[in-house]
Amino acid sequence: MPSQIPPRKTAPAHHIRQSHGSVLGLETSCDETAAAILDTQGRVLSNIISSQHDVHRPFGGVVPELASRSHIQTIEAVTRSALDHARLQWPDIGSIAVTQGPGLAGALLVGLSYAKGLAYALRIPLVGVSHLEGHIASAWMDDPSFPTTCAVLVVSGGHTHLYRTSLDGHYHLLGRTWDDAAGEAFDKGAQMLGLDHPGGPALDRLAQSGDPHRIRFPRSYVNRAGLDFSFSGLKTSLLYYLQDRKGHATAPEQADIAAGYQEAIVEVLVNRAFQAVHESGVTALAVVGGVSANSRLRALLAERAAAEGIQLSLPALDYCTDNAAMIAAAGRMALMRGRVTPLDCEAISDLELPVC
Ligand code: KG4
Ligand code: ZN
Repeated sequence: MPSQIPPRKTAPAHHIRQSHGSVLGLETSCDETAAAILDTQGRVLSNIISSQHDVHRPFGGVVPELASRSHIQTIEAVTRSALDHARLQWPDIGSIAVTQGPGLAGALLVGLSYAKGLAYALRIPLVGVSHLEGHIASAWMDDPSFPTTCAVLVVSGGHTHLYRTSLDGHYHLLGRTWDDAAGEAFDKGAQMLGLDHPGGPALDRLAQSGDPHRIRFPRSYVNRAGLDFSFSGLKTSLLYYLQDRKGHATAPEQADIAAGYQEAIVEVLVNRAFQAVHESGVTALAVVGGVSANSRLRALLAERAAAEGIQLSLPALDYCTDNAAMIAAAGRMALMRGRVTPLDCEAISDLELPVC
């Protein structure tokens, strides 16, 4: 059973100073060590990301043990750098927001333990947030006036979920993938095409010189009336296509294959997202998570939103893939609603959003 953040207990009052000042966000759920600082108005003062791509590239994917080790080696310098870039000192930090889950257990533990240590030493509140809450918060980072009631598509390496949100801490789940996440489909497809880790951005780049319509891969809508997704069949069809070509695709063909494969993912994401907008009676759509950095997805979403008069929020590229500014933003909102997480909290690798 996936877990949810347990009911909040207030941390011992004698231990905590009144929450004020800037929010330090920390994110270590997967393969980015990140620290960011937001000021009292929610403006990003610094956003530092140390990527582990070079560590994992030889293995073609993220190796959990290496991820944890790398977070331990990096987190202090990354946090120090976030303070320096914001031109702040420790006493300027009023609270700490940290990713509590979901993610790799060992990787989460590094960030959470570090955050607990800082909160204890500085006597400031700690708030554990869901990584998904963070991605969703990124939709308001550049435009705080974006409607709070909207449809949200979270598309990342681990999630392809559609929600209706009102930003009051409640999310209504509209649909989700039955098997692979869209990011996983990108990464596995890229691997089959012989592209380097991380596969999503590499496939995006290759597809830019290809024809998205020459090779048609299947679009999967599982149950057409619903809002769920499935990408495992698409992966298999790419595998069979490449086996038939017996590895003899020329460079232009490779680009067409990448573009056709990407189109099959992106078309389904766009159609489902707009279906969610219409069915839930909202007029705004936010698309967040690593895959929202995809150039073809961004172009098709913008085109369709303009044609249908729907307000669209796509985070700036720095806030699409994992970062700590989004964690600080989600933490700041949670703190404003009075949420504080006790220092004996645990990392929850299968943490789910509180859905209703
Ligand atoms: O949100 P994220 O950084 O980490 C998770 O929470 O999983 O998302 C990472 C995923 C990876 O699967 C990566 O390949 C994909 O996002 N991704 C992309 C692009 N940039 C990142 N997929 C397609 N096109 C991109 N430009
Ligand atoms: Zn993420």
